[in-house]
Amino acid sequence: PYYPVICIDGPSGAGKGTVAWRLAQDLGYQLLDSGALYRIVGLKAKQAGLLDDVEALDEDALETLTKGLDIRFSPSESLGRVDIVVNDTLIGQEVRNETVGGYASQVAVFPKVRQALLALQQDMATRSGLVADGRDMGTVVFPAADVKVFLTASAEARAERRVLQLQSSGQIADMAEILTNIQSRDIRDEERSTAPSKAADDALLLDSSALSADEVYAQIKSYCQQKG
Ligand code: C5P
Repeated sequence: PYYPVICIDGPSGAGKGTVAWRLAQDLGYQLLDSGALYRIVGLKAKQAGLLDDVEALDEDALETLTKGLDIRFSPSESLGRVDIVVNDTLIGQEVRNETVGGYASQVAVFPKVRQALLALQQDMATRSGLVADGRDMGTVVFPAADVKVFLTASAEARAERRVLQLQSSGQIADMAEILTNIQSRDIRDEERSTAPSKAADDALLLDSSALSADEVYAQIKSYCQQKG
């Protein structure tokens, strides 16, 4: 059987996660949050002391660590979502912060780490329709995908959203610090030589800076219908 694949790529904070989740729910597809994989590797690498010497990261050691993780996806209780289980432990919110996002982008520059996560991601498209969220879904992981969207927004708009998000969960947020983090992560993701964050030639480009989440969703949904 053939299962459709929808790729939503773009920088962090552009709204990919929300759109991907809603699409997966709407269509009854599985959801691949590829960023979570890099976050898990980043966190494990940090815990193993592999990110201590930022100037001299050891690609082979990171590859060994990545290959040694038993990463499984399991359909979640909530529709349109897949839980990630690593070494028998369910991964939750502990990887969803800026610090771990930074670790993720440090390990994500290495081809051997990316390669070690490739089959796992591609395998997700063999059992059901898939919505894949990341940086290189449309360019590297699923080049033949049915629908590709590259969702961007200005760094300022993304930082502002992040501040509101943190504040609404009762956390203190420093706009200047968040903006700096976003910008340095963007640079690392866009300038790396392997699978840099960029739009596929056949992707729909959408800038969400001035759009609400509902507007973004409506545009992407109608693009999917047009394509399908
Ligand atoms: O999307 P998210 O913010 O969770 O991704 C965290 C980091 O993981 C990104 O900044 C990027 O460095 C890396 N990543 C990647 N390729 C993907 C998804 C995420 O390199 N497909």
